[in-house]
Amino acid sequence: MRRETAVALIAASIVLAVALGSWLVLNRGSGSGPGAGVDIGGPFALIDQHGRTVIDRDFQGRFKIVYFGYTYCPDVCPTELQTIAEALDKLGNKADAVAPIFITVDPERDTPKVLAAYLKNFGPRFIGLTGTPEQIAQVAKKYRVYYAKSPGQGPNDYTIDHTGIVYFMGPNGKFLTHFSLNTRPDEMADKIQSYL
Ligand code: NI
Repeated sequence: MRRETAVALIAASIVLAVALGSWLVLNRGSGSGPGAGVDIGGPFALIDQHGRTVIDRDFQGRFKIVYFGYTYCPDVCPTELQTIAEALDKLGNKADAVAPIFITVDPERDTPKVLAAYLKNFGPRFIGLTGTPEQIAQVAKKYRVYYAKSPGQGPNDYTIDHTGIVYFMGPNGKFLTHFSLNTRPDEMADKIQSYL
């Protein structure tokens, strides 16, 4: 996303964080973990950067970091992916228990091949997922991710405004916690470690 929309989305993320926070406080007694019962995430079937079909259950038993963005994003997405990569590096071998998943909100331009080339910049761990515009719309809705095209000079020159929340999901696929933009890699690593 663009820098100016990032500011608005950070504000929106704070609102969501507060809403999630109050939800968690109100429902503290109803689940087994801090985020138990929060209705974020769910089944999906998408295509990874190697062209393989990937479904949510392929990650059963592993923690998941789920971030929505797109490879043409000028600054926020690369920064966020770098933060996730650094946080996982800090965890050493324990990072193997965590699957970092990048889901594109730009399926028209982000083909598997484009995702593969892009994700190489952030180390070997990332799983990049794309699909049809309808499949992406469905999974984004399940994660309560907003995205919208912002036209550029030419038809293929658009940017996409999108939610910049990093979700952390448990081995059973349930939402555990989230990270907002500007979370530092060491903070992210500490928080993840507390769940492993
Ligand atoms: Ni972005």
